[in-house]
Amino acid sequence: MYDYLIVGSGLYGSTCAHELKKRGKKVLVVEKRAHIGGNIFTECQHKIHVHKYGAHIFHTNNKPIWDYINQFAEFNRYTNSPVANYEGRLFNLPFNMNTFYQLWGTRTPAEAERKIAEQQAILNGKTPSNLEEQAISLVGEDIYNILIKGYTEKQWGRPAKELPAFIIKRLPVRFTYDNNYFNDRYQGIPIGGYTQIIEKMLDGIDVRLNTDYFEHKLELDKLAKYHIYTGAIDQYYGYRFGKLEYRSLRFESELVETANFQGNAVINYTGNEVPYTRIIEHKHFDPVDTAVSIITKEYPAEWTEGMEPYYPINDEKNDSLYRQYKALTKNENKVFFGGRLAEYRYYDMHQVLGAALKDLKEMP
Ligand code: FDA
Repeated sequence: MYDYLIVGSGLYGSTCAHELKKRGKKVLVVEKRAHIGGNIFTECQHKIHVHKYGAHIFHTNNKPIWDYINQFAEFNRYTNSPVANYEGRLFNLPFNMNTFYQLWGTRTPAEAERKIAEQQAILNGKTPSNLEEQAISLVGEDIYNILIKGYTEKQWGRPAKELPAFIIKRLPVRFTYDNNYFNDRYQGIPIGGYTQIIEKMLDGIDVRLNTDYFEHKLELDKLAKYHIYTGAIDQYYGYRFGKLEYRSLRFESELVETANFQGNAVINYTGNEVPYTRIIEHKHFDPVDTAVSIITKEYPAEWTEGMEPYYPINDEKNDSLYRQYKALTKNENKVFFGGRLAEYRYYDMHQVLGAALKDLKEMP
């Protein structure tokens, strides 16, 4: 008999497993995929650590969380500085003095601020009623048209005019020559990939791969006193109120016969001339000396049955559906729910780790 059955070996489930084992609990982890780690899984191919489910950069302002993750791997000093390619022209991201110079030739913060203010003025103080107006109100027309419009339309599969304004709450604009995407104090990539972190977390813990909880529910439910469920909340309750919606992604990876394909880990494609949103070149996350490289094109996709649900669509309809499911969890006294799928929210890694460590305080 186990104390805990944990459904899902992603960062949430694995953190719980690790901490519970330290408390002397007997834990069984079941994972429907053929590998551990959920979406942070990396696979070593040609000595390159490939981020199989999209680019993952660990960043946080929280020192205890940074120290916590560092016990499982040594992190490098990677700084995320994506570049945008718009119809062949290159711009630095996030929007900063380099970007403004590339767009307008402005050299000082005062010049750039004036230019942005001029461009915002076309809305005449109107309250933004869609994403396009919201973005223009925040950063003006040029940045919107060149760096936001195409990317966002590809991401959501709809014209920006038909998307709600709330999707963009803030757009970071920086009046310094600083291409560091994140403002967080701590940032890096684990040298040797993310999978080793999960391997260490799950060291000495029983794990069953290729095991879908729902296919073996009767047997598995009898094996443990408590459950931690990190799968989709609507599936747990048999979709009784309806299905929660997501956006998905399709990844196309390629081995290229060149040591350095694009000179940066992340290049965003912000125009509509190509259907993908980004090209990731994995070796720039965790540099290795190889004659070849591996790149991945990221294509946004409508989520349909059988696809991986990546981004929750947190509009009013889905959030209210989620609240109905969440209300059901209050009746459970032996099941704990956590992680991005059970909570139907986008979580960064430091957030999911923080949530797991907090939730563990309630677990006996
Ligand atoms: P996760 O989905 O990883 O784990 C859940 C596990 O449960 C999966 O392994 C799944 O197979 C399993 N499971 C589900 N149902 C099951 C069932 N019925 N039976 C058995 N197993 C089941 N964050 C960040 O900090 N920096 C970054 O750069 C990025 N980048 C990024 C890019 C992209 C494209 C995405 C989509 C996300 C990111 N993230 C990120 C977020 C990061 O991926 C996220 O925080 C964690 O992976 C969430 O971990 P969870 O354990 O919650 O879910």
